[in-house]
Amino acid sequence: MKPKEYKENLKVLLSEEMLQRRIQELGAKITQDYKGKKLVIVCILKGAFMFCADLIRHIYLPLSCDFFGVASYGDSTKSSGILQTTLDVSSSLEGKDVLIVEDVVDTGLTIEHLQRYFSSKNPKSIKLCSLLLKPKSLKQKIQVDYCGFEIGDEFVVGYGMDAAQHYRNLKYLAVLT
Ligand code: IMP
Ligand code: MG
Repeated sequence: MKPKEYKENLKVLLSEEMLQRRIQELGAKITQDYKGKKLVIVCILKGAFMFCADLIRHIYLPLSCDFFGVASYGDSTKSSGILQTTLDVSSSLEGKDVLIVEDVVDTGLTIEHLQRYFSSKNPKSIKLCSLLLKPKSLKQKIQVDYCGFEIGDEFVVGYGMDAAQHYRNLKYLAVLT
C-alpha cells in the first residue's frame, strides 16, 4: 500500500500491517512470560510512545505504566553521545518486574545507561522490549529480550520515531530518501 503522507521523500520499510502483526506476537509472548508478576512497563519517550501504546493493548495482564524521557540526538540523525534526561519515572520500581519499552537500539549507549539507572532502583527483574534493533550499529553487547525487527544501520522515521521532531505521526516505518 502506498502511504498517503510525505510520499515524495520516504521509502516504506515496515508497513502498518507488518508492525501490527509483530506487535501482537510480542504482546502474546509478554503475556505468557509475565503471568503472576508485578509488571511495570517503562515507556522511553519520546520515540516509543506509539509502539508502547499499541503493545500494552496486546498484553492481557494487570500492569502499570510509567514514562522516562531521554534525548541524545538533538536535530541530528547521529547520536551526540551525551544523554539528557527529560523526564524521570514517577513510581517506585522497587520489587517490580520492569519491562523497558524502547523504539530502537542503535549503538546501545542509551539502553546501557537506562538499564544501569533502573537497576539502581532495585527492581525484582528488568528486561528490554525494543521494536527495532540495528545489529550493525551496536557498540556494546545488549540483550534485547523482546525484539520486533532487526534492521540495517539506516536512519528510520515514523511510528513514533522522528527526524528533527517530524514524521512521528506516520502509521508505518520509513527510510528518508
Ligand atoms: P543509541 O543510544 O545509539 O542506541 O540510540 C538509541 C536512541 O536513539 C533511540 O532511543 C532513538 O530514540 C534514537 N534513534 C536511534 N536510531 C534512530 C533512527 O533510526 N530513527 C529515529 N531515532 C533513532
Ligand atoms: Mg528512543
